Amino acid sequence: MRYTLALIALIFGFSASFAEVKKIQLPYFNWKLKDAPGKQEFEMNCLMCHSPGYVFDQSEGKTGKGMWRHVVHQMINDFKAPIKEKDAEKIIKYLEENYSNTKEGYKINR
Ligand code: HEC
Repeated sequence: MRYTLALIALIFGFSASFAEVKKIQLPYFNWKLKDAPGKQEFEMNCLMCHSPGYVFDQSEGKTGKGMWRHVVHQMINDFKAPIKEKDAEKIIKYLEENYSNTKEGYKINR
């Protein structure tokens, strides 16, 4: 009997502590990617590890033409992204045409 009471107390104690769990709301970013050829390849190959926000924020200001080629190959070589060569070319073209902010390209200091 004592055990049963202790058990009931325990269960109530638990549910009481569950009731106090605070709900948090994570911000939701709805990234609207530009519709153009290569978008699908980008979504399938680049977003398995990070969000579009990460891709564009981290590369902000240096997204010239040569930069995207470098970035995509860096993902494949350094981070072992499983991207087929023909998809890589489509992705590079998509990023260059839609997300490059300098025409002359960015010099990579490596
Ligand atoms: C296998 C996982 C993986 C895939 C797939 C992947 N990345 Fe990454 N990416 C990473 C990691 C890990 C980092 C963070 C590197 C760091 O912290 O320095 C990163 C960082 C980046 C950065 C930030 C710049 C930098 O040099 O750190 C950009 C831009 C980027 N990725 C673009 C892409 C693009 C474009 C694709 C698709 C072609 C892609 N990623 C696919 C793992 C991946």
